[in-house]
Amino acid sequence: MERVKLSDDIEISRLVYGMWRLTDDPSHSTEATIAKLDACLEQGITTIDQANIYGAYTAEAEFGKALRESPGLRQQIEIVSKCDIVWPAGRFADHRVKHYDTSRAHIVACVEQSLRDLGTDYIDLLLIHRPDPLMDQEETGSTLDALIDQGKIKGAGVSNFRPWDIELLQSAMSHRLVTNQIELSLANHHPLVEGDVAHLQRHRCPIMAWSPLAGGELFENHSLNAALETVATRLGSIADAVAIAWLLAHPAKIVPVLGTNNIERIRKLHAATQISMDRETWFELYTAALGREVA
Ligand SMILES: NC(=O)c1ccc[n+]([C@@H]2O[C@H](COP(=O)([O-])OP(=O)(O)OC[C@H]3O[C@@H](n4cnc5c(N)ncnc54)[C@H](OP(=O)(O)O)[C@@H]3O)[C@@H](O)[C@H]2O)c1
Repeated sequence: MERVKLSDDIEISRLVYGMWRLTDDPSHSTEATIAKLDACLEQGITTIDQANIYGAYTAEAEFGKALRESPGLRQQIEIVSKCDIVWPAGRFADHRVKHYDTSRAHIVACVEQSLRDLGTDYIDLLLIHRPDPLMDQEETGSTLDALIDQGKIKGAGVSNFRPWDIELLQSAMSHRLVTNQIELSLANHHPLVEGDVAHLQRHRCPIMAWSPLAGGELFENHSLNAALETVATRLGSIADAVAIAWLLAHPAKIVPVLGTNNIERIRKLHAATQISMDRETWFELYTAALGREVA
């Protein structure tokens, strides 16, 4: 599978597997997590997306159990994690209000906890999960720079940031922010025309697309699903692969972060990378997503 270079120190796979839903899986177990990781690795999907908040602050420890039980696995993968959301649950149960915290003390404590939960001594990529209206760019930026310099993270990026949020944080950092992870799919395509994608593309900054199948909602939109099926039949593929290929076809270097818990679906994720989508087919799907032809 193709690799995407984010910096001199970080390369990720063209498709990423996300663990937001890991602990929702009714058949969840360490063995099941290892089976999912094996299915990813067999296809060259080496990058795993996590966040400290997933599974109400338990998913990283669950992933860590799989890493501890599979010697050598850590060296074969890249781990993306995120922090700054404080949700009154689990280890943050004593808080009253859900909020964001981009202070030095909070970020450092989260990274240390993630490293313990994962059982690793570095995170490949740390993202600030959500833009914090109280972010002090000097404090947050110097904290991320220091974590990189200390080798606790190989690089830093952001998630759900608008272009001006990125500019603000980047202005106070010596290291480059290497990605923005945003919601992007045939159901959530507004960032393609509202400046978010253009801004990242202009800075040659690969984009990570979360919920690239809109959590399965794509297939509930009748006309969009029909268009996906039509294209899939024509290309000899399957509808979910076509929806992912629609993102891969964009010149901005969009890296879909997939979240299925279904092992059979995981085994077929690479099908998207085998599709070459021409411009007219791209617009055929965009038209179905818009519900009208372009102006
Ligand atoms: N940065 C952020 O703020 C943020 C926010 C949300 C998510 N994320 C990341 O993005 C990852 C992916 O999010 P997501 O899980 O919403 O992504 P997704 O791949 O768009 O959705 C997966 C969901 O769709 C369902 N689904 C229904 N039909 C499907 C089909 N034909 N093929 C595949 N899945 C189908 C899956 O069910 P089954 O399990 O039954 O297949 C699963 O519940 C997360 O794990 C997380 O790492 C990041």
